[in-house]
Amino acid sequence: MERVNLNKNVSVSRIVQGLWRLNDWNWTIDETVKFIESCIARGVTTFDAAEIYGNYMGEQRIGEVLRAAPHLRNQIEIVTKTGINMFSDKRAYTMSHYDTRKLKVVTSCQESIKRMNCDVLDVFLIHREDPLIDHRELGKTLDELVDSGWVKSVGVSNFDPMKFDALQSFMKHKLVTNQIEWSPVCFEHFNNGNMDYLQKMNVRPMIWSPLAGGRLFTSSDEKNVRARKKIDEIARRHGVESETIVFAWLLYHPVGAIPISGSSQLKRLQQAIFALNIALTHEEWFEIYTASGQQRLR
Ligand SMILES: NC(=O)c1ccc[n+]([C@@H]2O[C@H](COP(=O)([O-])OP(=O)(O)OC[C@H]3O[C@@H](n4cnc5c(N)ncnc54)[C@H](OP(=O)(O)O)[C@@H]3O)[C@@H](O)[C@H]2O)c1
Repeated sequence: MERVNLNKNVSVSRIVQGLWRLNDWNWTIDETVKFIESCIARGVTTFDAAEIYGNYMGEQRIGEVLRAAPHLRNQIEIVTKTGINMFSDKRAYTMSHYDTRKLKVVTSCQESIKRMNCDVLDVFLIHREDPLIDHRELGKTLDELVDSGWVKSVGVSNFDPMKFDALQSFMKHKLVTNQIEWSPVCFEHFNNGNMDYLQKMNVRPMIWSPLAGGRLFTSSDEKNVRARKKIDEIARRHGVESETIVFAWLLYHPVGAIPISGSSQLKRLQQAIFALNIALTHEEWFEIYTASGQQRLR
């Protein structure tokens, strides 16, 4: 499996396994250990989590897995995120909101490490664009987390180019990624300039919901149906599964995307991995780009 160097201390696998839905899968610890071992055997060593996943219980689950199988820790990279205070029976917030102040970010980082029983975070991200963000304070806080050894690298998620640029301008360390949504039915980051800006900054984005959370294959709304029809047609042309074509489409782009597969099924993760060996034509890339009807060529 191809590796991507985020900085001199961290590299990640080109395909990442997402753990957003881990707690919904209702696996035993043994089953989860086996799943992670199977990912590693396929070269997928990077796992994506967040403080709020599984109603604040997802990281706890990862911690239980690493306690049961400590040998896994030095074979994997852990990505996690902070900055959302989600309304939940697990927390006393009166509403969901963002918090990227120093106390929240530092406390959250230390608690994530403790919950996951992992000593250090490989990649620590600010989860969403906070309208109350104090770029100067947050930049200093993230630098301090790297310098004091709590995290090996820092980045953001769902940031537009303006917010990324503002935060980076107050930092010594590089923001190593921007984790963004992109699929054949989601083009926000083409339209806000991120696909260009990230190349300019030499930052490789991680891509969430590459299959639109499964809706690409299950939804009856028009944009999904149109995109699916085209993807199925191209898949038949190449003699592979449709999921593989979607991942090949993401990988084709010069931004150097690092897709996060969110499936619980190893056979679907394998479809994503197969994409590393599929060469779409330039025309096929545009066929998918325009298929849902949302993007037009001018
Ligand atoms: N930074 C952020 O704001 C943010 C937001 C959302 C997610 N994420 C991260 O990104 C990861 C990936 O996102 P995602 O989970 O939405 O990714 P995804 O790969 O687009 O969707 C995965 C879901 O689609 C289903 N699926 C896949 N192929 C299918 C098919 N052919 N037919 C029917 N269902 C199918 C899977 O079900 P099966 O399990 O049955 O295969 C699973 O429930 C998450 O796990 C999380 O780590 C980050």
